[in-house]
Amino acid sequence: MIRRSVTAFLVVLVLAGLTTTGVTESQTATPGKGVEILVDVNAAGGKINRNIFGQFAEHLGTGIYEGVWVGPDSKIPNTRGIRNDVVTALKALKVPNVRWPGGCFADEYHWRKGIGPVNARTLTLNPNWGGVIEPNSFGTHEFMDFLEQIGSEAFLSVNVGSGTPQEAAEWLEYLTTNQPTTLAKERAANGHPTPYKIAYLGIGNESWDCGGNMTPEYYLRQLTIYSRFVRNFNPDQQDPSRRMLRIAVGPGGDGPRWTAWTDVIMKAWQQHTWSWDMEGLSLHNYTVVRWPPAYKSVGFAEKEYAEILKSTLEMDGIIKTHSAIMDKYDPEKKIALVVDEWGAWYAQLPGTKPGFLAQQNSLRDALLAALNLNIFARHAERVRMANIAQMVNVLQAMILTEKEKMVLTPTYHVFRMYVPFQDATFVPVSFEAGQYAHEDVTLPRVDAVAAKDTGGALWLAVTNLDPTRPADVVVRMTGLSAKSATGETLTAPAVDSVNTFAAPKTVEPRPISGQVQGNGVMITVPPKSVTVVSVK
Ligand code: AHR
Repeated sequence: MIRRSVTAFLVVLVLAGLTTTGVTESQTATPGKGVEILVDVNAAGGKINRNIFGQFAEHLGTGIYEGVWVGPDSKIPNTRGIRNDVVTALKALKVPNVRWPGGCFADEYHWRKGIGPVNARTLTLNPNWGGVIEPNSFGTHEFMDFLEQIGSEAFLSVNVGSGTPQEAAEWLEYLTTNQPTTLAKERAANGHPTPYKIAYLGIGNESWDCGGNMTPEYYLRQLTIYSRFVRNFNPDQQDPSRRMLRIAVGPGGDGPRWTAWTDVIMKAWQQHTWSWDMEGLSLHNYTVVRWPPAYKSVGFAEKEYAEILKSTLEMDGIIKTHSAIMDKYDPEKKIALVVDEWGAWYAQLPGTKPGFLAQQNSLRDALLAALNLNIFARHAERVRMANIAQMVNVLQAMILTEKEKMVLTPTYHVFRMYVPFQDATFVPVSFEAGQYAHEDVTLPRVDAVAAKDTGGALWLAVTNLDPTRPADVVVRMTGLSAKSATGETLTAPAVDSVNTFAAPKTVEPRPISGQVQGNGVMITVPPKSVTVVSVK
């Protein structure tokens, strides 16, 4: 678990770090002034990997049990035990990958307890998260079935902390071999004769903390062993373009402890021999302001809105810090930086079970999600994967469920609106962000990213952080006249507006379009909003 605090010094650094590739920031913009965004269509850059829209589903609270898995005998409509309403909602997000089974849970997970007849599975404990009983009913086959139902790929975290290389190697053999080994026959007997595809392999989780309190040097020894022996045998994954990517445990923030971690792993990778390798380095960074999480997820004032957004913008500086170390050892950017845990971590909702990390999800979280997705897009060449924590009912979730009820959160809507950015080509934009200030917190007033989708259409995402002033955004394209901008905008009456089971549509996108103005298009984006438009 991350323990971080924000000092005034860091706050200054964050502000300084806001000027990112293709974005210029003015500290003097006039209140109410419009914002001109110049889209440099001729300077399209790298691919925004669809994997940055990945999700994280841990055995934690009601994230899996209730949120995804209700069992085949449940009255809640399901397919082989997996909730139909949740599957339908997730399909619309085109979720590229799901990280599972943890988190801290992964380093105490023993896969053999989650296969075979469901009624005969061992009951174990989940000491990290409330000490509740883990029924193991959602195991390997159920996870792979869930992925198939939503159309996603597997990102498995293997147990390094309390497991062995043999246990992890056997799990991968069970999943992926097409040869008639005893493990493959067992997989077939459990209902899946053909090998599964495992696209991504996380070698441990937070091995510097809940994953085993390891030093970087000790973890490096584990990494070299696991990366050598945990093999993927799927014949369709032997081609280098389809090979399983191995992701090493990386840092949990910035500061000397974390830069040292990145340095040790990347330096060793630069000198690695044929016998081990990795393709990604993970980064965990939650928006929490200070530990333990105390900010409320609902019922907060503008001060907390501004502070949380300021804190979330630190992501850019943290990525820059670790990218610089990675560039030193890997100038060709072969190793991806994988932000496989990110999002807002607030105080648990009153009355919910300790350790279940249940929180509401407000309009503020929608803006927070957009700001982070924009940061990842600007770092597209290095950040090629990210996983928001977490998918259902836990931390900054897409979906909340209560028995048979389900509600889509503001964060869900942002992920749905950003679908055109999946695998799109990054297009640089320049604009004067202006300022939004509240008490001692100063933030950029707007943020924007653009991309060309796989069909060649141009998309622009604009976030207006200012909770009271709309922004007149004039979009101009280099060398071309913009004639229309149509899409959706997401806002709500208050910064802490939420969707509830009783009122599920308080924060919902609505159509927006712009008007031609000279050789550009003018769109008035509402205060505290996220807007995504297609520009023609
Ligand atoms: O997402 C909740 C927890 O946060 C994860 O289990 C752990 O990896 C991190 O500390």
